[in-house]
This record gives sequence, C-alpha cells and structure tokens, in this order.
Amino acid sequence: MSNEAKLELEGKTFTLPTLVGTEGEKAVDVSTLRATTNYITLDDGYGNTGSCTSKITFIDGDLGILRYRGIPIEEMAEKSNFIETAYLIIYGTLPNRAQIKTFSDLLTAHQFLHEDMTYHFEGFPTGAHPMAILSSMINAASCFDEGLMNWHWGKTKEFEVYVAKLISQVRTIAAYSYRKSRGLPLIYPKQNYKYTANFLHMLFSMPYEDFELKPEVVKALDLIFLLHADHEQNCSTSTVRMVASSQANLFASCAAGVCALWGPLHGGANQAVLEMLAQIHKEGDDGSKFIEAAKDKNSGKKLMGFGHRVYKNHDPRAKIIKKACDEVLAKLHISDPLLDIAKKLEEAALKDSYFVERKLYPNVDFYSGIIMRAIGIPIEMFTVIFAIGRMPGWIANYKEIMEEPKSRIYRPRQIYTGPTQKHYIPLDERK
Ligand code: CMC
Repeated sequence: MSNEAKLELEGKTFTLPTLVGTEGEKAVDVSTLRATTNYITLDDGYGNTGSCTSKITFIDGDLGILRYRGIPIEEMAEKSNFIETAYLIIYGTLPNRAQIKTFSDLLTAHQFLHEDMTYHFEGFPTGAHPMAILSSMINAASCFDEGLMNWHWGKTKEFEVYVAKLISQVRTIAAYSYRKSRGLPLIYPKQNYKYTANFLHMLFSMPYEDFELKPEVVKALDLIFLLHADHEQNCSTSTVRMVASSQANLFASCAAGVCALWGPLHGGANQAVLEMLAQIHKEGDDGSKFIEAAKDKNSGKKLMGFGHRVYKNHDPRAKIIKKACDEVLAKLHISDPLLDIAKKLEEAALKDSYFVERKLYPNVDFYSGIIMRAIGIPIEMFTVIFAIGRMPGWIANYKEIMEEPKSRIYRPRQIYTGPTQKHYIPLDERK
C-alpha cells in the first residue's frame, strides 16, 4: 500500500507524503501544498491540524489515555510527585538520584525573586486578578536577568538555571499575586521546605505564625500540579510554541501561555465550575434545572468542566482527581454541598442523551476546584494553580522548538473574506 496521499485538484493529481507517529497516529504532510498547488488547508479551530511533531506527551482521546514521555498518568499520579514529573517532562527521562538532587537544589537556589520586584507588586491595585499579576510578573522577571535577555539557545547549563528559575519563581510570584490581591504582607519562601509545601506556606502563613502543613493537603495540591503538568498542543501550549517560534525568550513565551490559559474555555474553567456550582446552590436547584439550561443554546450556559476537544470517552485526569477529591474531603472531615451538586450533575449528564451523543464527559476541571476549595485555596487562585502545574509542559515545548534544527517561525495562512479593493473616501464625502 502506498504511503503517499493523492489529491485531485482542478483535474490534476498531486501526491502528498504521509507520516505515522510512534503510537500509530497518522497524518498527511501538507507543508508543500501551497507551493505545489496554490491551495492551503482550512481548519477553523485547528481540530484536524497537527502543528508539530512532539516527543513529550501522548493522548488518545478515544481511549482516554494520557502519557508523559511514555509513562501513563495513572502511574505518575500514584508513584511520583510534581517535581520529578517536571524533570521527566522537560528533560525526557526520569531523573536518577544525582539529577533530582541537582534539580531540587537549583529550584531552592532560585526561589527568591529579585528584591526590587516587590515594588512592581505594589503597583497593582488590591483586588487585581492574580492571573493578570502572574503573567505580567513572569515577563517582568526576565528584565531582572541580563543573562536571559542576551542568552542564545545552545548553552545547556544556562538553560537548566533558567528552567529552575522559572519553575521556582512562578510559585513565588503566584503566592505574592494572591497576597497582593488581598492586601496581605508578602511571605518569603523557606529554604528547607519542599516545592508544594513552600507554596502553601507563602500563601497562608502570617508573619510570626506559620501555616500548619497537613500532609494530605500538601499531597492533594501536589497531585493537582502533577495532573496539569502537560497536555500536548492545547491552547496555551500552542501559544507558547507560537511565541517561542519567533525566538522570544523563555519567560516571555511562558507569560503568553499564562494569558492563553486564563480563559474560561481553557484553564479558567476550574474557576467557572465553582462559580457555576455556587450559583446552582444559591438558586436552590439540585442541578436538574441547570442541566436543561446547559442544553439550550440560547441560554448562554454551558456545563462547565464538561467536554473536551480531544477526550471523547473519559478524561483520565478526571478519574484520578475524583478519587482524590473523595479521599481529601473524608480525611479533612468536610462535607461540601457543592460536591453533592457536582455529583448529581455528573450522574444526570452521563445519562442524558444530549451529553452522551456529543461525548461530553467530566474533564479535569470538574473536580479540581472542589479539592482546592476544601484545602482553602481561594477561587481566583484556581487558574493560577493550573498555570504553576503547566509550567513544565510549556518549558518542554519551548525546548523542543529551540532544539528543532529546521524550526521556522509559526505563521498560519488565512482565507480572506473581506471586501475586495475599494478606494479611500475623504471625511467630508462620507455618508
Ligand atoms: N455544555 C453544554 N454543551 C456543550 C459543552 C458543555 N460543557 N461542551 C460542548 N458542548 C456542545 C457544543 O455546544 C456542541 O453542540 P452542537 O454540536 O449541538 O453544536 C458540541 O457539544 C460540541 O462542542 P464544541 O464546542 O464543538 O467542542 P470543542 O471541542 O470546540 O470545545 C470545550 C471543547 C472544552 C471548549 C467545550 O467542551 C467547553 O466549552 N466545555 C466547557 C468548558 C471547560 O470545561 N473547559 C475545560 C477544558 S479541560 C481543561 C483544559 O485542558 O483546558
């Protein structure tokens, strides 16, 4: 069987190469299409477009499979932690003892922000959304590192330092963003705390009074970071690759990822889910009225936390997080009416032909918000938590772009549907 695709256009036959990924995914390579035929492909929303080849994450949306560098998400969630997962995603293999020690030491060494950055935090009004502060301050952090500004790809040791800086400092910036948004004093990271514990410390400790770190709370948040660590070519990761393709620096590229993540159809869905559940609760609905509204296209409502562009069976992250949610709530002796509503919504939607026919299942955001609420994370920080978790994935994709020998700037085409040529009319002659 030929491994070329044939395309007939205007009476002529053109051949296009095909390729098959390591997991059997097939693609027609159209990169020479315009040069040979003068046609482009049109794929609104990129549902059928592979924008790159990548070795980082594999998803099979029909089977509900997610693997980081080949390792199933279920194994990572059970046996690993966020920092080891970050290493795996960025550098491609599980670290040995020496490698994880070097990585952890670098994270600790770079966890403090340049002290002058605190003045920038002062410039934001109390009440500013932490996602706005996060994206601005990640970008601002690059101004405090002259080396990064003048750095060119290829110096591996320097890249390792910038990776550690970004992963460590995104957590410090995120915590400061929250403290600033509430008008609270900033809390410095501690040298002897591990990554996730340190984040909770910076979020919730007060001067002279350390926050009590319950192991189940630290574990639950670490799991949330791990489950978000990468998810192939989603909206924010594609944005990071787009910006990186212009050779923008690592911090600028990842700050762009934060902005793309913010929207309610992407990372902002975790905040939107909780707002939806709270609204249902406030209205005294058990979820049944809301389900009907979510099916009505004129209602302007959607069942937030349901549906996914790629997963058409189940989101494996949602399965893991639902179990963790039950465990955390039981351990903390919390009974949450919003969790009851979430369970009813899920049960009703999974039986409803509208959701079944469209293959709409709960995604990772459906239950992550309930856990975060149980451990005391404020709602406006939910998407920030997603951003901290996704940082290794963004960095790994940045690295892939930089390592690609034939990397070209990302520059899609379009089909223009506006007016054909017309002429300028002076102001006095316009109607
Ligand atoms: N509630 C009600 N109807 C829905 C929903 C939903 N949550 N999601 C999709 N649909 C309907 C949609 O209206 C369309 O119906 P029809 O075929 O009659 O026009 C059909 O299902 C197909 O949906 P789509 O909008 O074409 O799907 P998409 O692949 O473009 O969008 C999505 C995927 C995730 C943006 C969408 O399902 C959605 O808006 N979900 C709610 C927001 C959400 O939970 N986002 C988090 C995604 S997971 C975290 C991440 O990785 O970002």
